[in-house]
Amino acid sequence: MYDNFSQFDYWIRHQFVDINTALEEIYWQQEDKTLISNAAKPLLEQLEHQGKHFITQLLAEGNTDQGFEHAFDLLGNVGLYMAACRRHEITEPSRETHSPLQQASALAMHIGASIGVIPRFSTAHLTTHNKAVDGVYKRFTTLIDEKVFVDFNTKGILAYKQAADSLLRIKPLGLSHPATAELLKAAVFALQNVHRHNEQLFNTLDTERFFYCVRPYYKPHRVGSLVYRGANAGDFAGINVIDLLTGLCAGNDPSYSQMLVDKFLYMMPEDQTILRDCMRQPNMLDQFMAFAGEQHQPWYQEHLKLFLELCQWHGLTAIQHHNQLVEKYICQPATQLNQSQMATLTASGPPLEVLLNSLSKLRDRRAAAKRDDIATRFNDLETLKATLR
Ligand code: HEM
Repeated sequence: MYDNFSQFDYWIRHQFVDINTALEEIYWQQEDKTLISNAAKPLLEQLEHQGKHFITQLLAEGNTDQGFEHAFDLLGNVGLYMAACRRHEITEPSRETHSPLQQASALAMHIGASIGVIPRFSTAHLTTHNKAVDGVYKRFTTLIDEKVFVDFNTKGILAYKQAADSLLRIKPLGLSHPATAELLKAAVFALQNVHRHNEQLFNTLDTERFFYCVRPYYKPHRVGSLVYRGANAGDFAGINVIDLLTGLCAGNDPSYSQMLVDKFLYMMPEDQTILRDCMRQPNMLDQFMAFAGEQHQPWYQEHLKLFLELCQWHGLTAIQHHNQLVEKYICQPATQLNQSQMATLTASGPPLEVLLNSLSKLRDRRAAAKRDDIATRFNDLETLKATLR
């Protein structure tokens, strides 16, 4: 408990959370909830200096080579500290050329480069790789809204990963293998779970609290000289594995592959490997199209029906993400903001309309919507549907 790592971890799980929560309560009482007012100053100094104290010791300790998990966990803790400093505008990328958090940047860059991930906290740190102690996992605040958001993000990501895992097991068996039906059923079930979790999130999360007190911790910030976009729930391979293996999205579509290139280092190294491998595999939609002579076979009829159900659920969860979650929690509250508040709204930095346009294209590819301006698999799915008896 007395080593530098454990002391810092203890601080992150306790005092750090208390300071952030107290700051959120100050902002929440203000007429302009986006303002970092003078009343926050003493707590901001506490946050910056206490974190720096632990980080300076860890930086001096150097690489202790205690394995990937330890390094990844430490990077997460440094990342949470840097993200909180950004949220409270102790740092602000547009007014700096280098992060003023020099020690934290140095430690984050050392670890990130050594394990092959970005040098900031990523989604996995808060969701799938966030160890709970006595039922409480790491968070920025004690606000119930943050817990609701992270709980359902974690459940949704895990369900997507289950769907992807089932699909990955089909390749060595082939589409006509009798066991493939079970894998397709498992993938459909997992996507139905994603849908259920998203629905619960949509019905539970408070819009204003999320918008003003949770999302600001996911803003872009500098580490060293570079600005890194904020983490988002999509920074895992599973959803893209489903996109690529179904064939609903294509690795050679430049706007899609641009997104993959941008997100690689935001994922865990194991996810990076899975996704790279997937980008080289044939997709199921093309394979079904090539089975033209097999349409009378019972396996073809059974497996195609399941495959079409899978595509339908993948589309439904994408529509739900865009039309419900993004609309309710980002677009609607954004209408209340003035121009300068809008500028720092999204996690990845581009203006909201630009982000929404690219997210809507993703939604429509996943839903195989009929669109003339971008390639979707609408026609191919119609062709396949016509082969069902
Ligand atoms: C990306 C909003 C929950 C999956 C994004 C982006 C936004 C957003 C605005 C674009 C990223 C950026 O700003 O750069 C929201 C909101 C949520 C929510 C407001 C809930 C309140 C979830 C959940 C999942 C999810 C629960 C599923 C596990 C994704 C994925 C991406 C993404 C996969 C990457 C783009 C894509 O491949 O579609 N989200 N999200 N999100 N989100 Fe969410």
